[in-house]
Amino acid sequence: MFADRVLSGMRPTGSLHLGHYHGVLKNWVEMQHQYECLFFVADWHALTTHYDSPEIIEQNMWDMVIDWLAAGVDPAQATLFIQSRVPEHAELNLLLSMITPLGWLERVPTYKDQQEKLTSKDLTTYGFLGYPLLMSADILIYRATKVPVGEDQIPHLEFTRELARRFNHMYGREPGFEEKALAAVKKLGGKKGKLYAELRTRYQEQGDDEALESAKALLDEQQNLSHGDRERLFGFLEGGGKMILSEPEAMLTVASKMPGLDGQKMSKSYNNTITLREDEESVGKKIRTMPTDPARVRRTDPGNPEHCPVWQLHQVYSSEETRKWSWQGCTTAGIGCIECKQPVIAAVLDEQRPMRERAQLYLDDPTLVKNIIADGCEKARKLAQETMREVREAMGLSYS
Ligand code: TRP
Ligand code: SF4
Repeated sequence: MFADRVLSGMRPTGSLHLGHYHGVLKNWVEMQHQYECLFFVADWHALTTHYDSPEIIEQNMWDMVIDWLAAGVDPAQATLFIQSRVPEHAELNLLLSMITPLGWLERVPTYKDQQEKLTSKDLTTYGFLGYPLLMSADILIYRATKVPVGEDQIPHLEFTRELARRFNHMYGREPGFEEKALAAVKKLGGKKGKLYAELRTRYQEQGDDEALESAKALLDEQQNLSHGDRERLFGFLEGGGKMILSEPEAMLTVASKMPGLDGQKMSKSYNNTITLREDEESVGKKIRTMPTDPARVRRTDPGNPEHCPVWQLHQVYSSEETRKWSWQGCTTAGIGCIECKQPVIAAVLDEQRPMRERAQLYLDDPTLVKNIIADGCEKARKLAQETMREVREAMGLSYS
């Protein structure tokens, strides 16, 4: 149905706020119409850093799923599931660990960075070192072709691609690949077969790219090769074989420029957030008490919007007309700050209203959410099991 399969996960470590909505969730909602999408709660990933406070994960988990649904993620279009309910991820993680060089993990930048940043936690654990590997298992088990992630996750995607390549290189040969490839060389006929073999050797032993191109051209000219033999001969040239795991492509989610209540980026750690479904009164109060241009001490002092975090919210939420009104009013002391904040409050509440309404449905009947997740887990598991059958077979574990 869809050529591309999108997979993304989110760690349930805190409540979602408007920064998540503008940065990630809006994007998910758009993608669900264009691609086959799988979205999951990365609860095991949350444990890699929050192993000492698992209660946080449980609390946040269902809230997070409700936030997704509230934001418009549609379970009729996208598959929603929980990582730990698809234990095949752990099996693939284990099997991939056999071929993962330690150095690859140690070199992933987040490993050292996070250890230095999160000093209150001991992250010198096996689980934390393995974070990118577990993420690779998440991705590769669904043969996802596109993975929307933030900038900080790009090295993990690169790691995943390299691991897929290594796996395919080691295990991607169908049983008897070599023999079948050699038989196909014979079928090319004496002269052409000999030329193919020479070109292949030149490429493999001397890295001669021209030889590779000539060999490919030679294959392109052959009209009476079967499809299978053609693929084998192409694979044989580069030493490859069957592609069991496919290399995913990162879709960079442009970092949300969503400003928080203090003008810094909205983030739980800056304590400057408005949560996705925060109640109306609290939203009003937070915005009304936001700091403004510090130079505007009295109502009669003109201000400079460039020095005001409220102005940044106008950039996200206001029409050109409203922005003009605010700029004019501020710089001429024509309006007061409370007045200037009103349209922002109204716009945030308008944005949240449908989310609050959708969420209410699920809060009133939690079994709806449980059922959505149960369905999603079942679907995801089927896909994961298919891949695992091939992986086990490739690694010599399909005893009968
Ligand atoms: N590491 C991701 C993050 O912190 C979450 C995640 C886990 C993920 N597994 C994934 C994202 C697989 C995409 C695909 O944002
Ligand atoms: Fe900020 Fe608006 Fe007050 Fe100017 S009038 S300082 S832009 S809140």
